[in-house]
Amino acid sequence: MDNFTFRNPTKIIFGRGAEKQVGAECAVFGSPILLHYGGGSIKKSGLYDTITASLKDAGVEFVELAGVKPNPRLSLVKEGIAICREKGVKLILAVGGGSVIDSSKTIAAGVPYDGDVWDFFTFKGEPQEALPVGTVLTIPAAGSESSNGCVINNEDGDLKRAFDSDHIYPHFSALNPEAAFTLPDYQVACGTADIIAHLMERYFTNTKRVELMDRLIESAIKTVINNVHAVLETRDDYDSWAEIMWSGTLAHNNLLNTGRQGDWASHDIEHELSAVYDVAHGAGLAVIFPAWMKHVYKHDVDRFAQFAVRVFDVDHSFFSPEKTALEGIKRLTELFKSMGLPVNLEGLGITDDRFEEMAAKCTTYGPVGHFVPLDKYGVEAVYRLAAASEG
Ligand code: NZQ
Ligand code: ZN
Repeated sequence: MDNFTFRNPTKIIFGRGAEKQVGAECAVFGSPILLHYGGGSIKKSGLYDTITASLKDAGVEFVELAGVKPNPRLSLVKEGIAICREKGVKLILAVGGGSVIDSSKTIAAGVPYDGDVWDFFTFKGEPQEALPVGTVLTIPAAGSESSNGCVINNEDGDLKRAFDSDHIYPHFSALNPEAAFTLPDYQVACGTADIIAHLMERYFTNTKRVELMDRLIESAIKTVINNVHAVLETRDDYDSWAEIMWSGTLAHNNLLNTGRQGDWASHDIEHELSAVYDVAHGAGLAVIFPAWMKHVYKHDVDRFAQFAVRVFDVDHSFFSPEKTALEGIKRLTELFKSMGLPVNLEGLGITDDRFEEMAAKCTTYGPVGHFVPLDKYGVEAVYRLAAASEG
């Protein structure tokens, strides 16, 4: 096990009615706050009314910025920074999924920064401070509600880039599983695939003797798998959503990578798809992750076989370690398919071949991934495997 320091400062308020506490949570920081949200789902569901009532009850004044798109755009971030500076905003309240939360985090870091906020994404600058962020989560998926990362699309150059900073951990996040009751099937599936991907990125490691984290990751993946079909069938199954929502937070709050180094190539490779084709992140991962696995499994067949046996109950007494490993990858693809997700690039609507260009962009700062570092040619090979996967 590697040395580590672990601290996750986000206060989690979990359960029915959690969103009604945000007024009191925000009041601590003063007024006005920026209420930031997406394309309107929170108005349809009634969450907007609950949140604004909670803010008014607590005497919190707010200004609003709506319109965050999935794959959140830099242009709206810049608008948000200007509003916050002009109005003297004290906190940003993100109500939505990963896109709204990431837009909020980037605005928060950009407000006190003199340069161009995009500098954070190109390693030209590092946040030294940020406005506080609070969140009300509406989709279990990205884990941004208690992560120190954020991901933004820059329309100029079809770029999607991320940065990490301890200054952007949300101060609080309200998680009510009922918020997920209004999700469309496709977003349920995309969110769940992202959660599984966050767990697998951490699982495939070269660090030896990491049994506790291996077992926690395996049980988190199994928990998500055990509950996803229930919520696809019965959207208001509170208890199944509660399992998925809490798994989604734990999958990405950095607890499960303590003492080990994860991989993360699949995320970098997927981000290029979301940048160029504007595909949903989770759907892109459902296609890229199995392709990445096929590309790298020979690096540590035993780890892939362990994954197959412990997560997908593959009976290894009938198979060689290699066949066991491959059977695990097959069952992962079958799982994604059963959730209604695409299994190849064509299923994502991608029929042209921009693999070389995307692979070059993906490796701008050098090879991606730690389990097996992939250069431009390795990344291109993963795209080709993703294109060739059978639907
Ligand atoms: O915009 P609205 O109208 O709210 O609709 C959204 C959006 O269209 C809808 N939605 C969300 N909650 C809903 C709902 N519709 C009905 N009922 C609800 N309760 O779902 C759509 C997708 O929302 P989005 O926020 O994009 O989803 P997600 O949470 O999957 O976030 C994806 C983004 O997070 C980034 C991804 O790259 C992507 O940009 N990630 C962020 C991470 C982080 N900051 O730590 C890590 C992840 O790996 C990921 O990269
Ligand atoms: Zn992700």
